[in-house]
Amino acid sequence: MLIDGYGRRVNYLRVSLTERCNFRCQYCMPEKPFSWVPKENLLSFEELFLFIKVAIDEGVTKIRLTGGEPLLREDLDSFIKMISDYKPDIDLALTTNAYLLPQTAQRLKDAGLKRLNISLDSLKPEIAHNIAQKDVLGQVLKGIDKALDVGLGVKINMVPLKGMNDDEILDILHYCKERNIKVRFIEYMENSHANQSIEGMHGREILEKVKERYTIKALGREGASPSFNYYIEELKYEFGLIDPHKHDFCENCNRIRLTAEGNLIPCLYFDEAMSIAEAVKSGDIKGATDVLAQVLKDKPKENRWSDIDADSQDVSTRAFYETGG
Ligand code: GTP
Ligand code: 5AD
Ligand code: SF4
Repeated sequence: MLIDGYGRRVNYLRVSLTERCNFRCQYCMPEKPFSWVPKENLLSFEELFLFIKVAIDEGVTKIRLTGGEPLLREDLDSFIKMISDYKPDIDLALTTNAYLLPQTAQRLKDAGLKRLNISLDSLKPEIAHNIAQKDVLGQVLKGIDKALDVGLGVKINMVPLKGMNDDEILDILHYCKERNIKVRFIEYMENSHANQSIEGMHGREILEKVKERYTIKALGREGASPSFNYYIEELKYEFGLIDPHKHDFCENCNRIRLTAEGNLIPCLYFDEAMSIAEAVKSGDIKGATDVLAQVLKDKPKENRWSDIDADSQDVSTRAFYETGG
């Protein structure tokens, strides 16, 4: 079992497979980063798998593949199959922008993937284009339909931004309710890679938009998730709000993150990380296990987004395309 320095049980590993992305979401990476990690620095699937086996053997029961955009990695289905064959009952999920799903969803499902979390920020083609800086909506909606058709579990993530998609909160909620899938609204997390002129919505403001139409009941957090659940009486529908500016979910935090080049990150907020690259490149299982133990020991108590006020210059330098959110 993996226990960190504060007694928290860590059983959730998020693995970023690439920092590259086919979108340029304004809240994430509006410009191409000056230097992509060179392809040769990416861990191969075999190297990643060595670490994943260590993590599973030590007690990880949930793995989420993220990016950038993870569907950009070639032969992803064979990697998924390696994990799924090793531990068939693992909760194996992927976070994606859905653009490549129409042609990949079936293969992902057949390989053993169970669930997808999909970003959907607008149902208006021109707004979706403005946010992702590419004409994406048609393909994204097709991708969601395909994922549902092949029987993958689906959740939707929306990041509401003032003056952009803040009038679409109910539209996206209705879209999800009609398809019987859950939506989570995510507060924008300030970071130095985003377009600095965008402004997120406070969780309270997001809830106000829903309350203009519906009666909502607070349910509570779903296990160790940063998502807080609410129930809409009239629709008999449950949605989530991810409010990273809080840190009350940190006391139950169960996750660590691995970047595509092998940095093991104990907390989404902090830059501290330790590399597993050397160990996995030399097949050193003991070395990989030791790095994992050290990172758990160093896992901080809580994030510090709540310390950031709107006018502060002190925004996180964390690149979400590197850590996969
Ligand atoms: P499931 O609970 O398995 O559905 O997935 P998830 O919510 O862990 O995954 P997803 O990739 O959809 O993440 C949604 C968002 O939650 C992330 O992009 C972050 O904004 C936020 N989030 C996830 N983990 C953390 C965390 O450890 N700290 C903070 N502050 N935010 C987090
Ligand atoms: N703030 C909040 N959410 C973000 N995401 C990416 N960047 C940010 C940010 N700066 C979201 C994406 C995706 C999830 C993994 O993280 O919309 O759904
Ligand atoms: Fe790509 Fe996701 Fe970042 Fe958008 S939020 S640019 S889809 S990694």
